[in-house]
Amino acid sequence: MSLKNLVLLSGAGMSAESGISTFRDVNGLWENYTIEEVATPEAWHKNMDLVLRFYNQRRKQLFEAIPNKGHEALVEFEKHFNVHIVTQNVDDLHERAGSKNVLHLHGELRKARSTRNESLVYELKTWELNKGDLCELGSQLRPHIVWFGEAVPAIPQAVNILNKADILLVVGTSLMVYPAAGLVDYAPPGIPVYYIDPKAHEMAYQKRFKCISGKAGEVLPKLLPELLSEINHP
Ligand code: OAD
Repeated sequence: MSLKNLVLLSGAGMSAESGISTFRDVNGLWENYTIEEVATPEAWHKNMDLVLRFYNQRRKQLFEAIPNKGHEALVEFEKHFNVHIVTQNVDDLHERAGSKNVLHLHGELRKARSTRNESLVYELKTWELNKGDLCELGSQLRPHIVWFGEAVPAIPQAVNILNKADILLVVGTSLMVYPAAGLVDYAPPGIPVYYIDPKAHEMAYQKRFKCISGKAGEVLPKLLPELLSEINHP
């Protein structure tokens, strides 16, 4: 019997219990920086040092972080489901936990890419990326991050994954950033959709989703029996 497809759409809250800052919570990153300062192509041209420093801090935090119980639960789910993770996160905690299929919508913090040829992508060995770090063509390397105002090249692949979902879990995202947030609309109508977030019941999605207000690392490890009953008694 072939396994059912469980799709996870994750956001910053997925990694919060690993000590990675979210964006829009109290003390979130966007409370201390503006998007325009550090996360746009204009910011890169205007103040490259600040942008590099911002992502170096994020990368340093990531090198010190480890996957949490939520990431681990998703690896466990692979015994029962064909799990596909579509994440807005730029960290590699899903992969480090052991998840096999991870699609990054907004890039990857541990990678850098050429500013001359965007297909030249490099794994970073340290947390620092500095002015003067060059690609093989001799041009400056930039963080391998999708900034505001840039295209999100992984969207067609994500739509394909969402189209085939039998169960969708939306975890730790405020669903405020498009096109990522719009992906939930590509799930087949009528499939079970869970929304897991400490603020789940405050969100406008209550009627469409099965909302569970709680932390990813606390809710996900207990969710398997309910997910299995969804596929056994749909
Ligand atoms: P947000 O910071 O907007 O939302 C984080 C969500 O995580 C909130 O709804 C929190 O309630 C929830 N949360 C906090 N702790 C949690 C926990 N322990 N378990 C589960 N949920 C928890 O982050 P995103 O929705 O991921 O893009 O933001 C989307 C995009 O906006 C990011 O990918 C980034 C940002 O600007 C770029 O930089 C391109």
